[in-house]
Order: sequence, then C-alpha cells, then structure tokens
Amino acid sequence: MRCRFTGSSIDSVRENHRRFRITYYNKSMRTKKSGKPVSASHVQMTEIVLPSHTNQIGTIFGGQIMAWIDVAAAISATRHARAICVTASIDALHFVAPARLGNAICLFASVNYTHRTSMEVGVHVESEDGLSGTRAHIATAYLTFVALDAAGKPREVPPVIPETKEEKRRFEEAKLRRGARLALKTRLQNQPR
Ligand SMILES: CC(C)(COP(=O)(O)OP(=O)(O)OC[C@H]1O[C@@H](n2cnc3c(N)ncnc32)[C@H](O)[C@@H]1OP(=O)(O)O)[C@@H](O)C(=O)NCCC(=O)NCCS
Repeated sequence: MRCRFTGSSIDSVRENHRRFRITYYNKSMRTKKSGKPVSASHVQMTEIVLPSHTNQIGTIFGGQIMAWIDVAAAISATRHARAICVTASIDALHFVAPARLGNAICLFASVNYTHRTSMEVGVHVESEDGLSGTRAHIATAYLTFVALDAAGKPREVPPVIPETKEEKRRFEEAKLRRGARLALKTRLQNQPR
C-alpha cells in the first residue's frame, strides 16, 4: 500500500516517523546538527463545505480555503520546529478548480524547505465528492513560517531532510522560490522612490 500524498510505501512512511530525529552532519559548519525528515511534518486535514462557506453559485469562497490552508500549514511548521510558528508570507496560492457545497476538502501539508529560522510549507488541496468518491486537485499553496522563541524573536529550526525523489524535487523548487523572493525584495528596495 502506498501513501496517496507522497507516493512512498506506508512502511517507509512509518519508518520515517520512527526515525523521527536524524543526526545530520553539516560539513560546511563542521558541527553536528539535528535534522528531521519531511515526513515528521506531514499533516492531513479534512473539512466539509457548509452553506456558510459558499458564494451565490454554491462554490466555496477562496478565503475559506486560504484559512484552512493556513491552519494545516501552521500545524505542519509547528510539528517540524516544535515551536510557536507565525505565517510570514504566502508566496503563491493557485486555485485550479472549484469545490461545491457538501464536498469534503482534503488538505495535505509538509515542510518543503528550511533556512535558518524560516520554513516553506507546501499545501496540496483536493475536493472529494462524498457520494462518488471522485477527487480533484483544487489548490496548491506555498507559505513561509518563522519559528519564534519565548521572547517572540525568530529562532533556529532544525534542517529538513528530504528523502524521497518527490521531497527532493520540492526542496529544490522551494530553494528557487526563496531565491526569487529575495531577489525581488532586493530589486524593490533598490527602486528609486
Ligand atoms: C515573520 C517575522 C517574525 C519576521 O521577523 P523579522 O524581525 O523580520 O525577522 P528577520 O528579519 O530576522 O527574519 C527572520 C526570518 O524570517 C524570514 N522572513 C521575514 N519576512 C519574511 C517574508 N515576508 N516572507 C518570507 N520570509 C520572511 C527571513 O528571511 C528570515 O528567514 P531565515 O532566518 O530562515 O533566513 C515578523 O515579520 C512578524 O512577526 N510578522 C507577523 C507575523 C504574523 O503575525 N503572521 C500572521 C499571524 S500568524
């Protein structure tokens, strides 16, 4: 049996959870650092589209999906960091299909990438028709969370360790998004006002 989200075998997902903390040797820093596999931050959350979540044509408000995405991503970041985590930004949120009244909304979140105090969390959202069981991908989002210490200041997070091919691809893509985000920030700061 395979995990629908990661494509990994259920046994390997269980094994990853068992090996919750992995010792990781960071050659550049010449220090031993503690890292965590992506699977330690997996979140699966299911909601149902109620009348109060829908617009005049019976499809869900984008803002409602955003709220659920933020919750699933916050739980994922907290599982990784084991610290209070706040949403620093949402890079991209793509709605690719609508969901309707009565659909179940299934959210899958995990940490894609970590830097010093920040983490990118990816969230994949599917709708499910309760009667037919048909599922459709409806949204994908990438959020950056920052872990805070007791004084509310950013604190270091353990490096995430991508293990599967898919996790490695997401890690590399998240690195590119971070680079693009920083480049844009620098460009905007250097714009004449
Ligand atoms: C997010 C926050 C803690 C960052 O604080 P800060 O003083 O700017 O911190 P720093 O400049 O030291 O940056 C800390 C990290 O945040 C990242 N960061 C800061 N602003 C960011 C942004 N807009 N998008 C993505 N990452 C950001 C930095 O890249 C850095 O990451 P790194 O340590 O991994 O390299 C602060 O801006 C904040 O509290 N924002 C409000 C959060 C909030 O209320 N969210 C909504 C409700 S949860």
